[in-house]
This record gives sequence, structure tokens and C-alpha cells, in this order.
Amino acid sequence: VPVGRVFSGIQPTGVPHLGNFLGALQSWVALQGQYDSVLYSIVDLHSITQPQDPRLLRQNVLDMAASLLACGIDPERSILFQQSQVSEHAELSWILGCLTSMPRLRHLPQWKMKSKQKNEGSVGLYTYPVLQAADILLYKSTHVPVGEDQVQHLELAQDLARIFNKQFGEFFPEPRALLSSTRKVKSLRDPSSKMSKSDPQNLATISLTDSPDDIVFKIRRAVTDFTSEVTFDPEGRPGVSNLVSVHAAVSGQTVEGVVRQARGLDTGQYKQVVAEAVVQRLEPLRREILRLRADRGYLESLLVHGARRARALASPVLIEVRRLVGF
Ligand code: ADP
Ligand code: NA
Repeated sequence: VPVGRVFSGIQPTGVPHLGNFLGALQSWVALQGQYDSVLYSIVDLHSITQPQDPRLLRQNVLDMAASLLACGIDPERSILFQQSQVSEHAELSWILGCLTSMPRLRHLPQWKMKSKQKNEGSVGLYTYPVLQAADILLYKSTHVPVGEDQVQHLELAQDLARIFNKQFGEFFPEPRALLSSTRKVKSLRDPSSKMSKSDPQNLATISLTDSPDDIVFKIRRAVTDFTSEVTFDPEGRPGVSNLVSVHAAVSGQTVEGVVRQARGLDTGQYKQVVAEAVVQRLEPLRREILRLRADRGYLESLLVHGARRARALASPVLIEVRRLVGF
């Protein structure tokens, strides 16, 4: 087992969608056992950077915990915890925020995308990437699984580690990205954009708790084009290519393999094949999520246990940071 500590976080958006699963959670599961410690955080401090409803937030944290377990995160092999339950995140974020400048944050993607939609944003949204840096550095993490959209945020964490070390003495390792190799899952209604929780079109996104009928219905209505053959050409034919790559990902086959099998099918017939493959992969997860979701007491005790383990790692780091800073 290579020496190293993996950290990653996901916002409590409730039950994840197929894009979250194929793009992030599957690799989170695979990383367990590949490094000597692995931490996964449900980052609720990040969620309150935008308007939110307390009851929904509480439910979404539990739904995300149930989903992570159902996907295969093992709470003994990983430390699975709720960010707000380890207050060291917020304290380190404050200290790191004092080591960076407003212009350094202005061009980062979270602010650029989300503040524009409303033409304004909270201070928390602006410093969101500083909190992300604190999440990572608090555990002296060495490896961070991220999507391409998060690379600039990880670069800020690397800068902050360097700045801190230069000012206060060598302390934080510089965290490295583990880039997801899977192709982004596209919206079923608009294959030029990614499948996303925030997509207003409810036929565009497949949730891990969608029933087999929902999945068949949505895939049957997925936007393709006027060519009936099944080919893989993400630029020229984004719709059908998205179905091909989803099919490959859920069935653990290569893109070439699934295209070869689809020879002779038109896209309508092929949608049925893809829908069946997706149902087969997600059905056990769906059942497990529903089972776990009904056991609120278990989920809550699991998060208490995870927070205790996370704090045991975070606390000595923060004690040392405070001493180095001069507190
Ligand atoms: P959303 O866009 O639905 O709000 P997030 O930004 O919270 O999703 O993403 C959580 C994780 O899931 C990130 O690691 C991100 O890279 C991954 N992810 C999100 N959407 C997709 C997608 N459509 N395809 C692949 N990975 C995705
Ligand atoms: Na997002």
C-alpha cells in the first residue's frame, strides 16, 4: 500500500446522480485500500455558501451518507464524516484566507459560475476555494481525486501549502490531483452540457434512486440525432456517444466493445439496451440507499463515529498550525 492520504469531498445535494457516481464515487470506492488512509467528507459548510433550507440540508446530508455507503464506501476502511462536525475546517480556513488575496480568488470557477447567475454572491461563496484548501491541508492530504473542473481549486490549495511553508516553516505536503479518467456524463436532454443536479429539466438527469421505469423512460427520451446507426463520435454525435460511454462505464466494457455489440441496432433499439445496462448496475444501489435511508439512527451514529476519527487526525495538525502562526 503506497504511503499517502487521500481526501475528497462532496456537497450534500441529496441522492447523487449517475454523473456523480461514474465521474467521482466509483473511483472513491476503488481508492479504498490503495492508500494508507482515505477520508471522504460530506461538505455541508460549502453548501451554505448559497441560500438553503435547514431541514432540507439535514435530510440531504443523511441521503448523501446513505448513498456513499450504498456505492461501496466502507466506513471502516475510509473515514466518512460531515465537515461541519469537525470545526477545525473553519478555523484553518480563516488562517489560510489571511494568506491569499482577493484578486487570487476572483477568477476561480466556483465564484465565476455561481455568482454570475444571480449577479452577486456571499463572501462564503467567494472564499469557497479557501475552505476547500483547508479541507485538504487539515489532514496533510497527499492525493485528491478531483474532476477537471476542480483543478484550479486544487492549485490554490497547492499555492497555500507553499505560502504557508515559506512563511512558517516546512509543514504541509503539496497535495497532488488524482484526475478522474472517465468521460463526463452529459445531460440526456442537452448533450452539449454535463449531467447536473441543478439541471431544471427533470428528464435530463438520472438519480441513483430512479426506478427501473424512470430510467427506461428517461433514456428512451434522450436526445440523439437523425442518424440511426450507433457510432462513437463525441464531437459530431454527442447524444448517442454519451449513451455509448454510459453503457461502457456501467457495464465495465470498452467503448469499442459496446459499439461492436450494437452493430445492426438503430438508436431506438440501442436505447433499450443502454437502459437495461443502467438498470442492472443501479438497481442494487437503489435498494441499498432506500434501506439505509430508512435507518436514520444508524446514519447519525455513523457520522458521529466518522467525525470522531476525522477530529483525531485534524486536531494535532491544527494545534501545530496555531503554534506556528503564533497563537
Ligand atoms: P453537480 O454538477 O450535479 O452539482 P457536483 O459539482 O456537486 O455535481 O459534483 C460532485 C462530483 O461529481 C465532482 O467530483 C464532479 O466532478 C462529479 N460530477 C458531477 N457531474 C458529473 C458528470 N456529469 N459527469 C461526471 N462527473 C460528474
Ligand atoms: Na456543481
